[in-house]
Amino acid sequence: MKVQALHSPKRVKADYEGVYSWVRYHAGFSPRFVTSMISYLGLDHHSKILDPFLGTGTTCLEAKRAGISSSGIELNGFAYFIARARLGWGFGNEELEEYLSDISSNVNGRRYQIVTPDFGQWFADGDPAPSEILSLGAGLKDIANRDLRDFLVAALALSVRAAPRVKAGSNPAWSQTGQPRRGPRPDFRRLFLQNARRMLKDQLTVRTAKPARATVRRADTHTADYGEGISAIISSPPYLSRLDYVMAHRIENDLLAALGYQSDPDLLRTKLVGGVVKNGRSAPKLKAEWGETCLRVLQSVKSHPSKGSLTYYYPLMANYFLDMFECMERFKEALATDGALVLVAQSSYYKDIEVPLPKILRTMAKRAGFAEARTIFRVDVTNVIGNMDPEQKAYVPQKTLHEDVILALPQRL
Ligand SMILES: C[S@@+](CC[C@H](N)C(=O)[O-])C[C@H]1O[C@@H](n2cnc3c(N)ncnc32)[C@H](O)[C@@H]1O
Repeated sequence: MKVQALHSPKRVKADYEGVYSWVRYHAGFSPRFVTSMISYLGLDHHSKILDPFLGTGTTCLEAKRAGISSSGIELNGFAYFIARARLGWGFGNEELEEYLSDISSNVNGRRYQIVTPDFGQWFADGDPAPSEILSLGAGLKDIANRDLRDFLVAALALSVRAAPRVKAGSNPAWSQTGQPRRGPRPDFRRLFLQNARRMLKDQLTVRTAKPARATVRRADTHTADYGEGISAIISSPPYLSRLDYVMAHRIENDLLAALGYQSDPDLLRTKLVGGVVKNGRSAPKLKAEWGETCLRVLQSVKSHPSKGSLTYYYPLMANYFLDMFECMERFKEALATDGALVLVAQSSYYKDIEVPLPKILRTMAKRAGFAEARTIFRVDVTNVIGNMDPEQKAYVPQKTLHEDVILALPQRL
């Protein structure tokens, strides 16, 4: 297959259908990109694919459908459950309906009264909805079939967006609380049932006759065991665009935390690569192996006159590059000698400083021991959140970023 036949990683309207319509997870890539990459790399049922920043599971789903075994690693609870719901095919309509028809007794059997302040904040005072939702969630814990249980946890998480205090802000990647919305109270139990039925319908349409195994692990990709002899890593790491994956889906993560399915979201925010929360890590010692461009960008950020550049942004960015370099070394270790690393990465701006992330990652790959690393596909991106923010616009009025598909090979072809 030729590079020209690769599909763009950028999603278009047609990519948000069926199982991919459940949520618009920020910075996800298109399923057609993954399938075209599988063909481009000549992968088959003997291959093993890894996505160490799995997000909502696109890589593993397309691998599974193509009959190629895969594994994915993801730390954000909300994304993890969406991925599990797309990938867990071990139940059908009958099991789902059996559970749903029984739902009243399931719920009444385990009334759940403890509404954590974090989850409760999304509802008006005295609203019984949060307790009802948590009761539904508590009932799910008894389901022995893990695929069905995780699927229903995802369906419940997708229902809570209707909570009356969820406010759409100017930044689509940040959810916050506002005044309770007027209008009739949402019926969360109905929403949950509707979601579950619609989602299974969607999931049944992507099931294939000979699927391969796809495992999703909730783990920190820094320390997780990748295994070895991996044929291809296909992934998109966080972009250093200050996108906060936990806050983008804060209410869903607050629900998961209240049910004990994930740690405190504020703690989670400190653990994600490229996160925006000051996490107590001071700036690490810079290393020449990160490459000149990376060091130049870091120096410019460090000496930028704007508030917080030295004390806040510089340590965050330096830690991001430290993390990415360490990941790159681990990717090299995990890949078979004839394997391939494919990373989708986008450039960004810090104030007026361009951060050419794809170029930095290409250099890092070479310094981490890959024989070659090049961009094989590029898309210009003008629909950037920074183009809407007046403060950011003051630095660079109309930014054009680029998203690259980087291919790095452990040995020369
Ligand atoms: C660009 S997104 C991946 C999107 C994915 N390709 C998709 O189509 O949904 C990057 C992901 O990396 C995850 N992530 C960040 N730091 C991580 C870490 N230390 N361990 C595991 N996952 C992490 C984020 O939660 C986010 O879901």
